[in-house]
Amino acid sequence: MSAPVSRRQLAENLSFSSLAWGTWRLRNSPDISGVDDIVRLMQTALDVGITTFDHADIYGNYGCEEYFGDALATVPHLRHQMEIITKCDIALVCDARPDHRINHYNTSKPHIIESVERSLRNLRIEHIDTLLLHRPDPLMVADEVADAFNQLQRDGKVRYFGVSNFKPSQFNLLQSRLEQPLVTNQVECSVLELDPIFDGTFDLMQQNRVRPMIWSPLGGARLFKDKDDAVAAHLRPILEEMRVKYDVAGIAEIAVAWLMALPCQPIPVLGTMKPERIRAATQACAMTMDRQDWFAILVAAQGHPVP
Ligand SMILES: NC(=O)c1ccc[n+]([C@@H]2O[C@H](COP(=O)([O-])OP(=O)(O)OC[C@H]3O[C@@H](n4cnc5c(N)ncnc54)[C@H](OP(=O)(O)O)[C@@H]3O)[C@@H](O)[C@H]2O)c1
Repeated sequence: MSAPVSRRQLAENLSFSSLAWGTWRLRNSPDISGVDDIVRLMQTALDVGITTFDHADIYGNYGCEEYFGDALATVPHLRHQMEIITKCDIALVCDARPDHRINHYNTSKPHIIESVERSLRNLRIEHIDTLLLHRPDPLMVADEVADAFNQLQRDGKVRYFGVSNFKPSQFNLLQSRLEQPLVTNQVECSVLELDPIFDGTFDLMQQNRVRPMIWSPLGGARLFKDKDDAVAAHLRPILEEMRVKYDVAGIAEIAVAWLMALPCQPIPVLGTMKPERIRAATQACAMTMDRQDWFAILVAAQGHPVP
């Protein structure tokens, strides 16, 4: 059922698999009851060529990195086959952070450095392959972020840097003060969330030859489950028609292939906790979607023909 997963070059010495796997749902999935289940998912991903693993300090109320780290500690040889991404800057109110009075963002140098050091301990790794600022912070001082990034790179704690959920102006602002090129911008996009295709986000990525990452490529399951979601309901028949035409496992593979057809060469981050769905998703990499089929899905997603 699986097909080969190609690579995307992000920097001279950094490539990601063209599909990544994300750990956001590790702590609230009925399919995960212990580290053995996590190891099974890691191994499934690596077996099909998905080597890029997406984390954030906050996932699972600051618990997912440690859960993954516990699993990785049982199979330490797998670390060298992976690129590990994590994020910082969102500060959540939760039991794990009793000093937080309100959800906020923090891109100060002390916060970035402390967050990375904690992620390294939790993941039980020596370095982070790519650190992302999770959300644009209206109080971000770009020069201060640059200082933090330089120190982390000098100390060998982080190899490369990127951002997430940044608009083009925010991306350009930060990039203008950095010595290192930002290697990605991880944004939400799917047949149910079209904004980055039309708001300049992906235009800038193509212009700068930066490969974006895409979160919730299936709309976080909205595509399948939400009976009241009119757009999803409208999309399902056309996706099913394409599933039959392209002879793939499910409409998920069509939705992912539709994203991978974008010329900015995005990297969708899969959120499934089921090994068989990881394997099936690789079929999207082997598909070449016909231009008119791509537009047929866009028209269904937008609810009107192109002008
Ligand atoms: N940067 C950011 O701000 C940000 C925000 C959110 C997420 N992320 C990253 O993006 C990753 C992916 O996000 P996501 O989890 O929302 O991605 P997603 O792939 O759009 O959604 C995953 C959800 O869809 C379900 N699903 C997958 N295939 C299905 C199918 N064929 N039929 C029915 N249900 C299906 C999964 O359930 P099963 O487990 O049962 O398959 C899971 O609940 C996260 O893990 C995280 O790493 C980043």
